[in-house]
Amino acid sequence: MWRFFLVYVFCAFTLVRQSNGQANEYRLPMTTVPESYDLRFEFKDFNGVDNLTFSGVANITIIVVESTDVVTLNLRDLNVTDVTVAETTNDWYRLLSVNECVYLTNDERFEIRLFRNIPTSRRLLVSIKYIGSIRTDMTGLYLSSYEERDTTKLVLHCYYYYDNLYGVYLRDIVVLTKRYRWFVMTQFEPTYARRAFPCYDEPGYKTEFNISVVKQSNQIALSNMPIRYTEYG
Ligand SMILES: *[C@@H]1O[C@H](CO)[C@@H](O)[C@H](O)[C@H]1NC(C)=O
Ligand SMILES: *[C@@H]1O[C@H](CO)[C@@H](O)[C@H](O)[C@H]1NC(C)=O
Ligand SMILES: *[C@@H]1O[C@H](CO)[C@@H](O)[C@H](O)[C@H]1NC(C)=O
Ligand SMILES: *[C@@H]1O[C@H](CO)[C@@H](O)[C@H](O)[C@H]1NC(C)=O
Repeated sequence: MWRFFLVYVFCAFTLVRQSNGQANEYRLPMTTVPESYDLRFEFKDFNGVDNLTFSGVANITIIVVESTDVVTLNLRDLNVTDVTVAETTNDWYRLLSVNECVYLTNDERFEIRLFRNIPTSRRLLVSIKYIGSIRTDMTGLYLSSYEERDTTKLVLHCYYYYDNLYGVYLRDIVVLTKRYRWFVMTQFEPTYARRAFPCYDEPGYKTEFNISVVKQSNQIALSNMPIRYTEYG
């Protein structure tokens, strides 16, 4: 009875703390919001061992809702190779200088710090190029496989030598070589999207996405949304 009571009080305190905003250190600052994403993922020929990386481009159109000089996104285990930030309207496009980019690794965040404050209501186009890994822990973009039904029969001829007979026997040995098909799947439930692309990885931010997949000719790309167009290179 006593134990139950203590637990109850503790929970009540936790709830009060959260409603006072104490939990916000784990949330993205609400100074910018995403308007749309244009993502690009490029894969090489991969199997279960080689080429388990991909290159990505995340173009995020964001709106500044509270004047700031920092754009903070969620990101984990991605190596950013290039960042550009531009201010856009329907009529013009102007590149802004980026002061520095900082990985806040423990918070799974990435900060893009600009040289000057951006006023409220401005629209920014943030373009981030990066390298990511095809993961093996079933989160983000992860590797999976299945065994092909028609396994290849490989017949090897082997010589066996028996000492006591001084004879050589020829035997057939059948080796079934298992052939695997490799694929990459997504697991973007919170908080795993940030392992595949830099983003506002909180359920409150709902936006539209365009997604491009650059694949090898022997690979297949599948989506649960209609294809807008296909280009052949
Ligand atoms: C991202 O934005 C850059 C700069 O505007 C552009 O050159 C590039 O084509 C865009 N990439 C994607 C995938 O939209
Ligand atoms: C790795 O990717 C490169 C470029 O697509 C390709 O030439 C190479 O064969 C790939 N390696 C394997 C083991 O698939
Ligand atoms: C990112 O960089 C780290 C440190 O240099 C390295 O260990 C890791 O393999 C890189 N990841 C990718 C996907 O290139
Ligand atoms: C997606 O791309 C089309 C052009 O192909 C563009 O009209 C549309 O605005 C884009 N949407 C997003 C969310 O980037």
